[in-house]
Amino acid sequence: MSLKILTAALSRDLQEISKKRPLKGREKVIKKVLGARDNLGPRVILQDYGQRQFLRFNSNSYLGLNLHPEVIAAAERAAESYGAGPGAVRFIGGTYQAHVDLEAELAAFHQREAAILFSSAYGAVVGVLNSLITPTTLVISDAINHNSIINGIRLGRPQQKEIYDHLNYSDLERELRENRGKAARALVITDGVFSMRGELADLSKIKAVCRAYEDGFPEGLILLVDDSHGVGACGAQGRGTEEVCHTKTDILIGTLGKAIGVNGGYAVGPKEVIAYLRETSPLYVYTNPITPGEAAAARQSLKIMQSPEGGELLKRVRARTKMLEEALEAEGFEIIPGPHPIVPLLLRDSRKTKEMVARLFAADILVTGLDFPVVPQGDQEIRLQVNATHTTYDIELLVSAIKKCQARS
Ligand SMILES: Cc1ncc(COP(=O)(O)O)c(C=O)c1O
Repeated sequence: MSLKILTAALSRDLQEISKKRPLKGREKVIKKVLGARDNLGPRVILQDYGQRQFLRFNSNSYLGLNLHPEVIAAAERAAESYGAGPGAVRFIGGTYQAHVDLEAELAAFHQREAAILFSSAYGAVVGVLNSLITPTTLVISDAINHNSIINGIRLGRPQQKEIYDHLNYSDLERELRENRGKAARALVITDGVFSMRGELADLSKIKAVCRAYEDGFPEGLILLVDDSHGVGACGAQGRGTEEVCHTKTDILIGTLGKAIGVNGGYAVGPKEVIAYLRETSPLYVYTNPITPGEAAAARQSLKIMQSPEGGELLKRVRARTKMLEEALEAEGFEIIPGPHPIVPLLLRDSRKTKEMVARLFAADILVTGLDFPVVPQGDQEIRLQVNATHTTYDIELLVSAIKKCQARS
C-alpha cells in the first residue's frame, strides 16, 4: 500500500522533471561497436535504430584506448587468471597484484609518493573529501566544479563552505583573506579541466594564492584537483592540467574511465595522506575495488601512454582537434579553442541546440547538447569531443553535417 503511494508520488515528480528537461534515463543503448576500417574510425550500432552506424563525438575516451587490442587483451588475461570480480573489499581479501601494481604505476606517472584506487573518480572525490574534511575545516570550491565535488563537500559536512566565481582567483583570494584564522584546516578544490567548455584551471595561479595564505590555517591549506578530463588528454606527455600549468598540486584525483579507457578512479599524493585514506575513507574501505581485469587493462593503457605509441595518439588527438576547430571557425561558427579535445560549439540558444543535436543524430552522428540550466542562459552549446580514433574523414563528415544542419535552421 505504502509502496503504491510512493510510486505514484515519484511518477508525478518524474513528470514534472520531464517537463523541464529530457529524462536522462532514456539512454541510447549501444548494441555493437564496429572497429575502425579504411578511412573510418569506430562506429556504434544502437538498439532500435537498425543497422545505422553512428559516429560518436561524445566519448571521453580521448586516446581511443578503450578499443585498443592490447588493453582488451590485458583485461581478458587478468580475468582468466584471477576471475571476473574481486570477490571482497580490499582489506578482506580483494586486493590483487594488479591493484597494487597499478597504484605504484599511477604514483610514478604523476610523480607522487603514493596512489590509492577507488571504484570511480566520483567515489575518489567523495571518498577523499569525506576523510579530509573535519568539523573544523573550511572548503573553498570553484562555482562550476563537478557534481562529485558538490556532493563530496555536502557529505563531508565542513565547518564552512565557500564558493569562488568560476576561474576567478581574485575571488578565491578574497575568500582566503576573509576566512584565514577562522578554521583549523582549509581545502581549496577545483576541477583541472571543466568538462562543459574544456577550460583549464590555472593551477599555477591557484597555488600561488594558496601559498600566500597557508599560515592562516594551523592544520594546513591543501590544494586538491580533480583532473578526470585532463589526464591523458592534455599536457606534453598526457599528464593533464598539472603538466600544462607546470604546477604540482597537493592531492590529485583522476579517473581510469576517460582517456585511460577503462573504469575506476584514483588519488595520488604524499604517502601519509594515502595511508590515512586507506584507513578512513568509506568508499575505499567498505566497497569492492575495480576488477582485476580493469586494473590490468588500466596498467596496459598507462604503459601505452608512456610509449612512443602513446605520444603518437596524443599528437593525433591534438591534430584532429585543431583540424575541427579550424574548420568550424573557417565556416564562421563560434567555438572555444583550447589545448583540450573538448570543442564547445556555442549556439547560445536552446531551440537551436536541440535541433542541431537531433539533425546530427539523423545524420548518424552522436553529440551532446548542453542546455540551460546545465550551462548559463545564453551559453547553450554542443559539446564535441574529439579522440585519437577519429579519422580526418570523420572530422570532415562532422563539419559538413554541422554546416548542413545550420543551413536548414
Ligand atoms: C570532473 C569529473 N570528475 C569526476 C567524474 C566522474 O568520473 P567517473 O566516471 O570515473 O566516476 C567526471 C565524469 O564525468 C568528471 O567530469
